[in-house]
Amino acid sequence: MNLTRVPGLLYGGDWNPEQWSEEVWAEDVKLMAEAGVNLVTVGVFSWARLQPDAHSWDFGWLDRLLDLVHAHGIAVDLATATASPPAWLVRDHPEVLPVTADGVRLEFGSRQHYCPSSPAYRTAAVRLARMLAERYRDHPALAVWHVHNEYGDHVQECFCPASAADFRRWLRERHGTVEELNRSWGTAFWSQRYNSFDQIEPPRTAPGPVNPTQVLDWRRFCSDALLALHRAEKAVLDEVSPGVPVTTNFMSMFKALDYWEWSRHEDFVSDDAYPDPADPRAHVNAAMNYDLMRSLKGGRPWLLMEQAPSAVSWRPVNVPKRPGLYRLWSLQALARGADGVLHFQWRASVAGAEKFHSAMLPHRGTAGRGWRETVAIGSELRRLGEVAGSRTRGRAAVLLDWDSWWALELDDHPSARMRWLDLLRPWYAALYERGVTVDFVPPTADPADLAGYPLLLAPNLYLLDAATAERLDAYVRGGGHLVCGPFSGIADRHDHLHPGGHPGPLRELLGVVVDEPWPIPDGETTGLDLDGTGLSAVRWSEWIETIVGRASVSGANGAEPYAAEPYAAEPYEAETIVRYTTGSLAGRPAVTRRRHGRGTAWYLSCHLDAADTGRVLDLPLAEAGVGAELPGLPEGVEATRRRAADGTEYLFLLNHGSAARHVALDRPGTDLLTGTAAADGLTLAPLGAAVLRIPPTEERA
Ligand code: GAL
Ligand code: ZN
Repeated sequence: MNLTRVPGLLYGGDWNPEQWSEEVWAEDVKLMAEAGVNLVTVGVFSWARLQPDAHSWDFGWLDRLLDLVHAHGIAVDLATATASPPAWLVRDHPEVLPVTADGVRLEFGSRQHYCPSSPAYRTAAVRLARMLAERYRDHPALAVWHVHNEYGDHVQECFCPASAADFRRWLRERHGTVEELNRSWGTAFWSQRYNSFDQIEPPRTAPGPVNPTQVLDWRRFCSDALLALHRAEKAVLDEVSPGVPVTTNFMSMFKALDYWEWSRHEDFVSDDAYPDPADPRAHVNAAMNYDLMRSLKGGRPWLLMEQAPSAVSWRPVNVPKRPGLYRLWSLQALARGADGVLHFQWRASVAGAEKFHSAMLPHRGTAGRGWRETVAIGSELRRLGEVAGSRTRGRAAVLLDWDSWWALELDDHPSARMRWLDLLRPWYAALYERGVTVDFVPPTADPADLAGYPLLLAPNLYLLDAATAERLDAYVRGGGHLVCGPFSGIADRHDHLHPGGHPGPLRELLGVVVDEPWPIPDGETTGLDLDGTGLSAVRWSEWIETIVGRASVSGANGAEPYAAEPYAAEPYEAETIVRYTTGSLAGRPAVTRRRHGRGTAWYLSCHLDAADTGRVLDLPLAEAGVGAELPGLPEGVEATRRRAADGTEYLFLLNHGSAARHVALDRPGTDLLTGTAAADGLTLAPLGAAVLRIPPTEERA
């Protein structure tokens, strides 16, 4: 199944025709056709043009534009245009503008200047979406609805009175009574007790540390408030224009929005990604983000909605993509499950804040390298058309929980250095280096879904409820291999610490108890010994003790006792696999393993860099039998597979290095990019790539 009715892979970008005369449009569509563009995103910032004031509309230009695009065989991803409210709306309703935590109302003159809870904004936005849907639902160019733009970009929270009232409404729904809220928020501390919901405000700038549960609930509320806005627009589109897919562009692994929750309301996931060409490891991060985008809808293809053909304009120093990088990084998104590559933007602007941002059609026009690459990539995507709809499946899974991310990063913890992305990245990089493709899974994943993954990684689970712990326990009992990172099992959903010592509801499963967390000062390291190999921990370690765990965390789900399991002789004692060798923890356990049921549960009590994390993860990887997508890959080469319904495989080989690399193949295939057959190997040029079509083997077909 394709994402839209447009066949093959999607190629195109944001097109902002309101910045140009209609003569320029005519040239644009000709050039789009020349470049192989089949989908353009139109109207993202057109509100002021579509609705010049509260009482008038101007759709004539958009009618002409859509007809023109359609006449050239190009489809449209039509935006609802609500991300930048016009000046008249803001002056008629000043309360539309968002307010910061210290009470400053943000001014008009940029974009995304709206309060998520403003009734005036919501009414106007939904009205605009309805007008567009009613007018264009049957237009033959329409292929996708693009709701708003990057929810949470620039403004993620608003502290105005309307937002405060909305927060109180949300709290009432969540907690029911103010007594319950007092309990959840732990307001006995520092005399923070409330007598009624009316006394509650958002966590504005205060003299000292603000109640952490108040802040946590605020994060949840802010994600929900933006989602409510999104759903209001989506509902109108679904009602007026049924059958046309609806999406909004995500921003990769973005803290402010719980994309597990959001993606339930998308017809397909789309993402904006801007890896930094100046960062030699940018492709590893990009891979991680793409794996998440694919995972959000259980492995279904997604769309790279925006990337830059070359430099962006919003970093302090904006380095262009050297020749070959634009192509390689486009292929990387496809390799990890995208069914198209779109850009910001089609034609480079000459005015405004983004005039130095690269575009598919650069300022220089069709004469230079930029345009040649735009045309070349368009034609390569056509050659790869048959890849659309095929799927990538991870060999291991990583647990990602926004609630835990938010709670982990609250203030006044043992160390401010424990940030989710910093904790996750070395684990991801270690798997990436080993050629292991991973899927992300939500904390609500049930053991049956998890059972498809022999290895489950949880780099951090600061916030963890008993039900999730019970699912992890069942996963391990059933034969899964779980690796849990430090500072996990700490707090419940109200951010109250679990009694009895960390890792709370995971103590039994992991067979360890934390006596005390032992953060490592910046610039210092703590030594570890892994079978004679020295490793060094940075930023975090823990004084842990192994304990004899019971057969099951609670026995609640009627689990069988394990007396009959092969480990019955010494079933429940966690073993120490790695010890600390220096500092206050010298001689104490650092990494442990506990056999449980048919699986194992590992605990890594400290933070390591990617290389050392990899050395530790090699043990559970081997135990779980998880290996590389393509064994024997040379350094710098990334290999992932997509599989079509008929069993055909597409093996993507990407050389991120600056030297040519030879890759040995496990099965022969045909490179779709060049049409050449490869029997047992091929050589990739620096930044070179191949996409091999491998026919189904007899058994597979
Ligand atoms: C995105 C945004 C686009 C454009 C782009 C520039 O965040 O959605 O409108 O600003 O960045 O890189
Ligand atoms: Zn507000």
